[in-house]
Amino acid sequence: MRVPILELKPTYLELKDELDAAYHRVMDSGWYLMGREVDAFEEEFAAYIGTKHCVAVGNGLDAIRLALVAYGIGPGDEVIVPAHTFIATWLAVSQTGATPIGVDVCLDTANLDPSLLSGALSSRTKAIIPVHLYGQPADMDPIHDFAKAHNLIVIEDAAQAHGARYKERMCGTLGHAAAFSFYPGKNLGAFSDGGAITTDDAEVARKARMLRNYGSETRYYHDLPGINSRLDELQASFLRVKLRHLDAWNSRRAELAQNYLSQLSAFNFEGIPVVSEWSQPVWHLFVIRHPRRDALQQHLVYQGIQTLIHYPILPHLSGAYANTEIGNRKVEMRIAEQVAKEVLSLPIGPHLSSQSVIDVVSAIQSFPRD
Ligand SMILES: Cc1ncc(COP(=O)(O)O)c(C=O)c1O
Repeated sequence: MRVPILELKPTYLELKDELDAAYHRVMDSGWYLMGREVDAFEEEFAAYIGTKHCVAVGNGLDAIRLALVAYGIGPGDEVIVPAHTFIATWLAVSQTGATPIGVDVCLDTANLDPSLLSGALSSRTKAIIPVHLYGQPADMDPIHDFAKAHNLIVIEDAAQAHGARYKERMCGTLGHAAAFSFYPGKNLGAFSDGGAITTDDAEVARKARMLRNYGSETRYYHDLPGINSRLDELQASFLRVKLRHLDAWNSRRAELAQNYLSQLSAFNFEGIPVVSEWSQPVWHLFVIRHPRRDALQQHLVYQGIQTLIHYPILPHLSGAYANTEIGNRKVEMRIAEQVAKEVLSLPIGPHLSSQSVIDVVSAIQSFPRD
C-alpha cells in the first residue's frame, strides 16, 4: 500500500522519549487504575476544553451513555440523534433504555439538520445528541434554541472533534455535557480504549464519577446502579503527553485538508467537504462524496491508496436494530441514505506527507468520468 488510510506508529516514534518516560513513571509507581495520572489528565483536559469538570471513562460509548444516565435519561424517554453517525451514538441511547429517534442530516456536512428537529419531537423527548462528525462542528445555535424552547438536554458527541471550534467556542463546551473518545485513531487517541465526559455541571460530574465506578463514591457503598468504565493510569499518562501535541497535530491536519481542498477544486471535483464560515473543523476524517463511490474506491485500491467508508450502513438499518421497534420503523432518511452511499474517507493524519496528498489527488483525477 503506497498510502495507508492512517498510521499510528509514527505518533509513538515522534514522542517515544516522553511516552516511554510516562510508561516507566506509572509502572514504577505501583498504582495502575484511577490514580494521580487520571486525576491530572482530567484536570488538564478540562482546562484544554474549557469546562469545569472532566470525568475520564473507559471509552466514548460509555461517555455518551453515562452522561445520559447522569441526566436521568432512561426507559420511556426519547433522544434525538443524527441518522448518519457511528453507531455508538445510537447504542449509547439504547443502552440507557431510552429510544434513539433519528433525524436526517445536511448533505454538505453529514451533520444533523437542525431544521428537521421539530419533526422528531414528542412528549417523551428528553435530549438531543448532535454529533460533530468527521471533526466538523454541528450547527449548535439552532439546536440550542430548539432545546431551550422544549426544555431538552444537549449532549455533544465530540468523539471525533477534540479541539474543533464552533463560532470560536470549543466543541465540548457547547452543550450541557459532551462525550469524547480516545480510541487510538482519534485526534487525541490513547494506545487502547478511553473516553471522557466534559461538563460545567458539578452534580452531573459527581454522578458520572460514581456511575463509572459501580455507582460508588465511598468504597463498597454503591448508591447508584453503575458500571465498570475506568480509564487506566497508563492510558491517562499517555494522553497527558499527547494532549500537549494536539494543537500542532490539528494544525497539520488543517494544512493537509487545505491541500486536498485546493488540489481537488483545481480540477472541479464536486464532492469536496463544505466548511461553513462559523466552523473550525479538526479534520478527524477528510471525507469526499462521489456518485460512483465504490468504483472510485476500487480505482484507488489499484493505485495503492487505502480509503474507508464512514459509514456504509445507517445505525437504524444495521443488524443491531433488526427486528426491533427502531429497525422496523422504516422511516425514510433520504439525505443520510445518499450520504452513506457516496462518502469516501481519504487518508489524513498528522504524519501524512504532503506528497501523499498529491498522490491521492492525482489518483482521483485519473478516475475515468462517465
Ligand atoms: C461519533 C462517535 N461517537 C462515539 C464513538 C464511540 O467511541 P469509542 O469507540 O471510544 O467507544 C465514536 C468512536 O468510535 C465515534 O466516532
